[in-house]
Amino acid sequence: MAALMVHVPAPCASADPAIGELGRKLFFDRSLSASGRLACATCHDPHYAYGPPPHKALALGGPRMDLPGSRAVPSLRYLERAPAFSERTVLKDGGVGPAGGLTWDGRAASLHEQARIPLLAPNEMANADPAAVVRKLERAPYAPAFRKLYGADVFRRPEFAFEQALLALEAFEHTPSEFYPYSSKYDAYLRGEATLSEQERRGLEVFNHPDRGNCANCHSSASAQGAPPLFTDFEFDNIGAPRNARLAVNADPHYYDMGLCGPARTDLADHSKYCGMFRTPTLRNVALRDAFFHNGVFGSLREVLQFYQQRDDLPWKWYPRNADGTIDKVNDLPAALRRTLDVDPPFMGREGGQTGAISDDDIEDLIAFLETLTDGYSPPARQFAAAHGGR
Ligand code: HEC
Ligand code: HEC
Repeated sequence: MAALMVHVPAPCASADPAIGELGRKLFFDRSLSASGRLACATCHDPHYAYGPPPHKALALGGPRMDLPGSRAVPSLRYLERAPAFSERTVLKDGGVGPAGGLTWDGRAASLHEQARIPLLAPNEMANADPAAVVRKLERAPYAPAFRKLYGADVFRRPEFAFEQALLALEAFEHTPSEFYPYSSKYDAYLRGEATLSEQERRGLEVFNHPDRGNCANCHSSASAQGAPPLFTDFEFDNIGAPRNARLAVNADPHYYDMGLCGPARTDLADHSKYCGMFRTPTLRNVALRDAFFHNGVFGSLREVLQFYQQRDDLPWKWYPRNADGTIDKVNDLPAALRRTLDVDPPFMGREGGQTGAISDDDIEDLIAFLETLTDGYSPPARQFAAAHGGR
C-alpha cells in the first residue's frame, strides 16, 4: 500500500490571526522551559531584532540554566524568503550545490520544524519530549485559546497539540511588522526617501565592488524582482572562522563544528567537500550584535572586517602556531578538511605580504554602511522633502 503523504501547509498571510497571536504568547512564555526561566524571546530578543541581547549570544540553558550553547544565536528577522534546503540548488556561480534551510547548517526545513529543536534540546528549553511541552501548555494562561482553536480535547492528543504549537510559533514568526519590517535607513534609501552620507555611500561602493569588498557577492545588496535585498544568498561557504576557545564544546580538542557535514546535522556527514561550510547570514541588523560568525568568535564588526582584510595576508594575527612554528590556519577544522576555504575577494587566497583588497579606511566606511541596515530608522521627512523641492 502506498504511504499516505500528510502535508502540513505553512501558515500564510490568510491564516487565522488568532494563531499568530497564540504563537506570540508561546514565544514569550518562559514556563515552556524545564528551568522556567527560558523563553524563545530570552535568546531571540525583540529589542535586538530577535537576536541575542548584549553578552548573551552564546546563551546558557538546560534545567538549571548552566549548560552552554555551542553556536551564536542568530536574528530571526528576514527568514521569510529563505528557501528550503536543497543540495541541488542552482548557485550563483552557475553550478549546482547546497543552499537554503534554517539554522547555521540549514538542517531545519521550516520554521515549525526548527521550533522543535530548542523546545527539546537538553541545553536549551530542555523538555524531555513533546508531551512534556503539552503538559505545560495545558497549565498556561492561554490554554483556553488553545482549546478554542483546536478543540476541547486538544490536550488529550499530545502529538497533535505539539504540532499546533510549532505551527503557531511559525505563524507568529511570519508577522511582517515584527519579522520583516524593512524599516532600515538603507530601505528608505532604496525607496528614494533618504540619502546616504558620504561615508555610507563609500561603504556601499566597497561592499558591492567585486575586486574590493565583494561582500554583495554573498550578502546580496540589490532588490531582486521588486523585493528588497536580504543581504544573504542563502548559500554555504567556508570563511575560516578561527576556533573559539571560549566555547565549552571546544575544550575537547577532537570536537569540530563542521557545519554542513556535522555533527549537529547528520545527513551529509560523508560529504567532506562541505565541511566548514555555514549558511551566509543576513547582515540586516548586524550592527546590533556583539558576537559574530557561527561560533561567536568575534566581538565587534571591526574585528570581523579586519579578519576579512587580513586572513590571508597576516594569518598569524588570527590563528595560533603549530609546534614547528608554522601557522595553524583554519584551525577550527581537522587539517585534512581545510581545502573548502573560500579564497575569492576580499580574501587574497595566498599568504605573504600582499596588499589587501580592503584598506583600513574601507573598513570604517563598511561599518558606517552596515549601520544603515538596522531597522527602525525614521527619515528626517521634512528636511528631505525640503532638499528635494517638496513642501
Ligand atoms: C538558549 C537560547 C535559545 C533559545 C531559548 C531559542 N533559540 Fe532559537 N536559536 C538559538 C541558536 C544558538 C540558534 C542557531 C542554532 C544552530 O545553528 O544550530 C537558533 C536558531 C533559531 C532559528 C533559525 C534561524 C536561522 O537563521 O536559520 C529559528 C527560526 C529559531 N532559533 C527559533 C526559535 C524559537 C521559535 C524558539 C522557542 C521555541 C527558540 N528559537 C529558542 C538559540 C536559542
Ligand atoms: C564567499 C561569500 C562571502 C563573502 C564574499 C563575504 N561574506 Fe560575510 N559571511 C559569509 C558567511 C558564509 C558567513 C558566516 C561564516 C561562519 O559563521 O562561519 C559570513 C559572516 C559575516 C558576518 C558575521 C554575521 C553574523 O551574524 O555573525 C559579517 C559581519 C559579514 N559576513 C560581513 C561581510 C562583509 C562586510 C563582506 C565584504 C567585505 C563579506 N561579509 C564578504 C559569506 C561571505
